[in-house]
Amino acid sequence: MGEQSYEAQAREIAASDVAMLIGGLDTGKTTIALEAVRVALDEGRTPVLVDADVGNSTVGPPACVGMKVFRSKADLATLEQPDSLHFVGTVTPSRLVLQHVVATAAMVDRAKEQGDLIIIDTTAVASGVAGETLKYHKTELCRPDKIVALQRGEEMEPVVGMLRRFLGAEVVTAPTDPELTPLSPDARARRRLEGFETALAEPLERWKVRPTVFAPTLPVGLNLERLDGVLVGVQDASGGCLGLGVLSHQEGALRVTTNVGEGMTGLRLGSMKLDLDTFESTIVNLRELMFGI
Ligand SMILES: Nc1ncnc2c1ncn2[C@@H]1O[C@H](COP(=O)(O)OP(=O)(O)OP(=O)(O)O)[C@@H](O)[C@H]1O
Ligand SMILES: [Mg+2]
Repeated sequence: MGEQSYEAQAREIAASDVAMLIGGLDTGKTTIALEAVRVALDEGRTPVLVDADVGNSTVGPPACVGMKVFRSKADLATLEQPDSLHFVGTVTPSRLVLQHVVATAAMVDRAKEQGDLIIIDTTAVASGVAGETLKYHKTELCRPDKIVALQRGEEMEPVVGMLRRFLGAEVVTAPTDPELTPLSPDARARRRLEGFETALAEPLERWKVRPTVFAPTLPVGLNLERLDGVLVGVQDASGGCLGLGVLSHQEGALRVTTNVGEGMTGLRLGSMKLDLDTFESTIVNLRELMFGI
């Protein structure tokens, strides 16, 4: 059933049209995805990586699904610069399943216009109710013709069985490479901070924003102070995300700090706050923030 080596997995992905990698933390998803990009480039294809891992991002900043088109191996050196972004608003995918799944599907649609092989790298939330729900709906909308499930022991068998039974998915399972060195929690946290830092690098500008430019719409009478520190997606008028911003509230005015003022038509509210000095993030519940419930 499953082939064992990473190279074999990468070749299998490079021979498909839309491939999705699933697996728990540190199972080698990203390593294999990038290897598949190399193999595909060698074969003269134009691979596109859709990075749906909003917590430990490879393409673009955390809290977003990023897409990168590879026209040559040189593009592998600029992974943090996405060709396209979709805002999700959290680094914890199980909290915003709808936004997360829609963002991934939207990026896959766009990827199909720009390349001939789509590789979807996913979050490590791959089992349990949240993980299974995410993978079910991602598979439903993105329609991968090949899913590679990496696992320790048999941890992915339930989700794999479900994807086969309900969606007729073609899934190959493979054991995680025992040589693999897991990322320490510290290193993981540092990677995330750096991801936010890169996305919110100078030259930053502070724009005054009207309370009417948000999605979702702010309730009438909201104390705008409550939005201080909230992460936002800086949006264009076609559903795309231009980059990240952080709200601040001073002297009765709401402002957004961002490096992507050009083309901004609105701001999508995230479900987290970000400290612009430390790039530490905290989770917020939007409904609670807006309505106090
Ligand atoms: N064949 C290998 N041998 C040794 N180390 C490896 C191998 N493949 C990957 N690694 C290392 O193991 C770690 C995890 O790999 P990778 O990032 O590909 O996993 P992942 O499943 O994408 O993890 P995450 O869930 O955090 O996104 C990385 O630090 C990577 O450098
Ligand atoms: Mg990864």
